[in-house]
Amino acid sequence: MSAETIQRIAQEVRSCTLCGLAAGRTCAVPGEGPADAKIVLIGEGPGYHEDRQGRPFVGASGQLLDDLLSMAGLARADVFIANVVKCRPPNNRDPQPDEVATCTEAYLFRQIAAIDPPVIVTLGRFSMGLFLPGERITRIHGQPRTVGGRLIVPMMHPAAALHQPQNRPLIEADFRRLPAILARAEAEHAVARTPPAPPTPTADRPLEQLSMF
Ligand code: URA
Repeated sequence: MSAETIQRIAQEVRSCTLCGLAAGRTCAVPGEGPADAKIVLIGEGPGYHEDRQGRPFVGASGQLLDDLLSMAGLARADVFIANVVKCRPPNNRDPQPDEVATCTEAYLFRQIAAIDPPVIVTLGRFSMGLFLPGERITRIHGQPRTVGGRLIVPMMHPAAALHQPQNRPLIEADFRRLPAILARAEAEHAVARTPPAPPTPTADRPLEQLSMF
């Protein structure tokens, strides 16, 4: 069911003309990964290589992302990788607020609802801003927060580690903590989605009396 929804959203993204970014793209980049992934990673938007191939994080940032995932004991095939905007902004400029609003409402938030992951890893300030507005990535990176029943883990964008090598130990340390964060999130997520247990009979409240509940 959610796999079909993810496929349908991907088709919609590939033919999307909802904002001006559509005019400049080679390929839209819907995102990819299993529809039942426990972790969704959200980058900013496609770059040059992603725009050419229609796949997320296939350039230099993607190579580093693969390395970071393996430090967390994960492979790319274990996670769903998406972006805030699905089309490349011209010359890699920042996505504009109206582009972010249009694209996330139309696609990203529906992808998240379909996958329903216990953990979302935001990569960089644009995806962090969707869940933790007003925060500074330098202050809160690696610190999970519960938002809407999920753990949001704000991480630096891999490109920040490529451009400023002093960031690399920080982002590596944050990824190495992901397995423990996932274990905590899965427990909390299961509790949040478990309906309350029906009342059980006790000596002073026999079963018949419970029927009124
Ligand atoms: N950077 C991003 O934010 N997303 C990609 O898909 C590639 C690079």
